[in-house]
Amino acid sequence: MTEPNQLTVYANTSSLSDFYNPIGVYMQTIAVIAQKGGAGKTTLALGLAVAAMQDKKTAAVIDTDPQATATNWTDRRDAETPWVVASPVARIKQAIAAALSQGVELLLIDTPPHASQEAAEAARVADLVLIPVRPHLFDIETLKTVRDLLKLAGEPPSLVVINQAPVQGSAAQQTAAAIRNMGFTVAPTVLHQRAAHMHATNVGQGPTEFDPSGKAAAEVIQLYKFTRKLIDKLKKEANHGQTEPTSARA
Ligand SMILES: Nc1ncnc2c1ncn2[C@@H]1O[C@H](COP(=O)(O)OP(=O)(O)OP(=O)(O)O)[C@@H](O)[C@H]1O
Ligand SMILES: [Mg+2]
Repeated sequence: MTEPNQLTVYANTSSLSDFYNPIGVYMQTIAVIAQKGGAGKTTLALGLAVAAMQDKKTAAVIDTDPQATATNWTDRRDAETPWVVASPVARIKQAIAAALSQGVELLLIDTPPHASQEAAEAARVADLVLIPVRPHLFDIETLKTVRDLLKLAGEPPSLVVINQAPVQGSAAQQTAAAIRNMGFTVAPTVLHQRAAHMHATNVGQGPTEFDPSGKAAAEVIQLYKFTRKLIDKLKKEANHGQTEPTSARA
């Protein structure tokens, strides 16, 4: 059984992209995908992008969802960053090239409601795929389809993020165990059901801006730091020609 803080990511790290921006900084790329609508993809992508910005990193979101939820969020936002760029998945390479030329250091790709060909394309170009899943059987069952999609995408490193977990009870732990048994790696940070996520996005913010000392903010920052470290580690290992499995310590 994998220890909560000891992650093993089964992935072909040699497939990691080679995205260095003009000042020689590696651009980390995270695709957020889920088969079930409303799992929290957009909220997660925006929350991580804002956390990156507050960490003084240049962050951007590519919004491949025709619903344009992430793009509309910028209309309610005072600040100009993080950038959110609407782009159909067919033009994702051009959008990535534009982000690189702008010196982006963390790029999030938000995807449409159902894991699809589009989501597979986003997963294919990502260093890491995040899969938000609510602790509900209906959501967990969809992971079989997500697994097929990841295969189609060439098995990029991926992490399931338990999202909207009740703050009380053991649903998150039980869900994590069930998901690990399906062969997925589960992020050590659980994002609980917290109103700050909705309040923040309603006013064009991330939870780390809306309530910086709140619990939602603390969870997003923890996940942000973890994913950045994990991608750094995957990248280093890829550079050293290692293949699967690859481990990262939070
Ligand atoms: N951790 C959380 N706590 C409370 N509410 C949350 C949390 N994460 C997401 N939500 C809420 O759940 C709803 C769906 O979230 P979101 O729009 O991010 O999902 P999505 O996967 O992008 O949906 P879609 O499939 O339609 O694109 C929103 O109202 C959002 O505010
Ligand atoms: Mg969305």
